[in-house]
Amino acid sequence: MAHILKLFGIVISFLVISSSCENDSSSDNTKDEAPKILYDSNEKYFHVHAVRDAKLAKSLWINMDSIEKTDFDKEWQPAYDEQFAPTLRYLKSVQLSFRFPFYGYLIDEITLDIDGRICMKKILYRNEECHSFVAPLATKLSFHKDESYIKYNDTGKSLIVQWGNVDLYPQFYYEEQNVTMQVTLYENGTIEFVYKQILSSLFALFDDEFITVVNIGTRDSMGFIGYDEHPYGVIALQERLNKDFDVTNGTVIVMTSLPTCNWFTSCELCTLSKIYFKCVWCHQLKRCTNHGNDRTYNAWLSSGCVNNYVSSSDHADKCNKPDELS
Ligand SMILES: *[C@@H]1O[C@H](CO)[C@@H](O)[C@H](O)[C@H]1NC(C)=O
Ligand SMILES: *[C@@H]1O[C@H](CO)[C@@H](O)[C@H](O)[C@H]1NC(C)=O
Ligand SMILES: *[C@@H]1O[C@H](CO)[C@@H](O)[C@H](O)[C@H]1NC(C)=O
Ligand SMILES: *[C@@H]1O[C@H](CO)[C@@H](O)[C@H](O)[C@H]1NC(C)=O
Ligand SMILES: *[C@@H]1O[C@H](CO)[C@@H](O)[C@H](O)[C@H]1NC(C)=O
Repeated sequence: MAHILKLFGIVISFLVISSSCENDSSSDNTKDEAPKILYDSNEKYFHVHAVRDAKLAKSLWINMDSIEKTDFDKEWQPAYDEQFAPTLRYLKSVQLSFRFPFYGYLIDEITLDIDGRICMKKILYRNEECHSFVAPLATKLSFHKDESYIKYNDTGKSLIVQWGNVDLYPQFYYEEQNVTMQVTLYENGTIEFVYKQILSSLFALFDDEFITVVNIGTRDSMGFIGYDEHPYGVIALQERLNKDFDVTNGTVIVMTSLPTCNWFTSCELCTLSKIYFKCVWCHQLKRCTNHGNDRTYNAWLSSGCVNNYVSSSDHADKCNKPDELS
């Protein structure tokens, strides 16, 4: 009897194994590839988590068939258009219905850039720079196909932007890529990139030369004495790409925002904060700052706070007695 039961068990496990093998062998299609974590790391301003997961990408993708292609409200075709980097050619400014926290600042106006970026302000003038952006793939993109589009929708809690059937600039890349990708900015500060279709691997495509003019990630900027705008908080994921962390069909990158000093509104909260940055309080400006590394660096320099601030190592009562500081 025991023998028969044992045999029965073997037969059952054989059936289970063979049926799972059957599933495996039928899944040579890449769509059924098991989800794979590509990257997972804190990058000071964001936690970055990247996976290749076709099912997740599909579930996050928003069907925008009912939404019209975006009409650009600014078209500045540069005279010499053979640059590889984005050049602010076709833009659409959008007023958000919610405020999006970005590096500790609340953003309510953005500009969509045909070249794979969302600029985090309203771009008004031709010579303005877009140094503050969210970029799923910032590089010169080509919209030469009839089916190429940018579409967006503000849901009240998030902004969803899609670039559909676009190509990398053909002068530089000879193969068609037919890229379709989506960015979502959530009201809690989370940024999500979904790459639905890229015909080849970006890592294979971008050699050392191209990587310098492509951006995947985020950046903010500040007024800086001596420079017009000096970027800080640069998250340059294009530099992290490798044969494992590649951007292809079904890649999803989620950037969860981490706290910044300017978020703290009192000296106590600032100096007691336990975040990645060593925050200090400036009495003159009534601001919490990572030693001026934010959009108000000039004010930090001119306020005299550079040598006169309250830090976490100071006695807490320094917060209440600004006069004793100098
Ligand atoms: C095989 O695939 C089917 C449908 O995709 C699923 O319901 C079933 O659980 C799978 N079986 C195994 C053993 O993985
Ligand atoms: C766009 O957002 C609105 C809410 O503002 C929502 O009602 C609508 O379903 C969304 N459309 C799509 C295609 O997601
Ligand atoms: C680009 O991809 C879409 C599917 O996303 C397809 O419908 C379209 O025909 C493709 N275009 C070209 C030129 O291959
Ligand atoms: C932010 O919102 C998104 C979408 O609602 C959600 O998936 C995510 O978990 C939220 N993140 C945090 C840190 O609350
Ligand atoms: C991405 O998907 C398209 C079909 O949508 C396919 O032709 C292409 O080979 C895929 N690329 C990679 C790198 O898997």
